[in-house]
Amino acid sequence: MNFHDVTIGIIGATGAVGSVALELLENQGHPPEKIVPIASPRSEGKKLKYFSQDLIVRKIEKELLDNLDAIIISATSQISEKWAPIAVKSGVVVIDDGSVFRMNSSVPLVVPEVNGQDVEWHTGIISTPNCTTTPLVMVLDALRKLSSIKRVNVSTYQAVSGTGSRARTELINQTRSMIFDQDYRIDVYPKPIGFNIFPHVDDFLENGYTKEEMKMVNESRKILHDDQIRISVTCVRVPVHISHSESLQIEFTDNVNLKEAIKLLSDYSGITVMDDTENDIYPTPLDSAGQDDVFVGRIRKDIAIDNAISLWLSCDNLRKGASLNAIQILEELIKRDRMGLNEL
Ligand SMILES: NC(=O)c1ccc[n+]([C@@H]2O[C@H](COP(=O)([O-])OP(=O)(O)OC[C@H]3O[C@@H](n4cnc5c(N)ncnc54)[C@H](OP(=O)(O)O)[C@@H]3O)[C@@H](O)[C@H]2O)c1
Repeated sequence: MNFHDVTIGIIGATGAVGSVALELLENQGHPPEKIVPIASPRSEGKKLKYFSQDLIVRKIEKELLDNLDAIIISATSQISEKWAPIAVKSGVVVIDDGSVFRMNSSVPLVVPEVNGQDVEWHTGIISTPNCTTTPLVMVLDALRKLSSIKRVNVSTYQAVSGTGSRARTELINQTRSMIFDQDYRIDVYPKPIGFNIFPHVDDFLENGYTKEEMKMVNESRKILHDDQIRISVTCVRVPVHISHSESLQIEFTDNVNLKEAIKLLSDYSGITVMDDTENDIYPTPLDSAGQDDVFVGRIRKDIAIDNAISLWLSCDNLRKGASLNAIQILEELIKRDRMGLNEL
């Protein structure tokens, strides 16, 4: 099967992630008749520009599934939980951007550069990781060739588009109101995000971490096939539109060579090294937004911990953090001839 022969449904096609998936498919020249945009009943009939054509948004119905080969779900957990099993029963491969299936032992959680081979054992549903996990595991996968990784400390700087379209509007509205010293509304987040940052992404758990932080820990272990790696995370929301950044401190078992680390990162598919501090070159969210790669810079030997490297990364959360990774999983399935569900 050729990628352009695959009929793809996108549930959530009007949202932050789904609309980028459409843009990526358009850029790849995927035929308009092979795309079915789906959203809530509120959006039924809405027109989405695709090449010079209008794609008409549909609401989800079982009959729609009969004409699809694959479906990318970028909607809500409830939609994934309800519709993914129905789609699989109809013979449709599901790639889910949400979190509900990620830690399910019968669902592969895949970043193709790291564990593309895991699509081999899918039983109909394949999950993409949290948007902060994907760039993290790519960097760790590149660097574990130096020496095994003992411990990782991460702080994230997460853009508002990670919370969907409503959060982007909230950032704009609050910022505008604050500039003009006017009252503002707080709808999406627990605190104002205009001119502010807060260490609170998703709900707090009993261990003092947040759900988002524990997702990064558990998902990374699953993708890297490494239960021993110790990861501690603090997730922070920042007033940035697109692209999550992360500050990493990575401790290895043995002493590691910085030049070798930079070479491994430079050679890794999907990573671009932007590291020339003499010329103020390091990645920012504005550099990585709209780009496919994970951008890495400020790569240095850590001065506080032996055998450790510190670095900084920035990655478009809507592209490699979600929709691009989902499309790449689909490509991986086709490459490995694993689109069919008949042999499961
Ligand atoms: N944003 C990110 O960086 C990111 C990264 C990784 C994973 N994800 C995951 O991707 C998913 C989508 O996130 P998002 O940021 O794109 O959210 P979003 O901007 O809020 O978009 C949500 C989409 O879901 C659709 N939807 C809502 N209720 C529906 C229903 N009953 N039936 C069908 N469609 C429905 C919406 O359609 P209407 O327009 O009609 O309401 C909209 O297209 C979430 O599971 C999120 O956790 C997001």
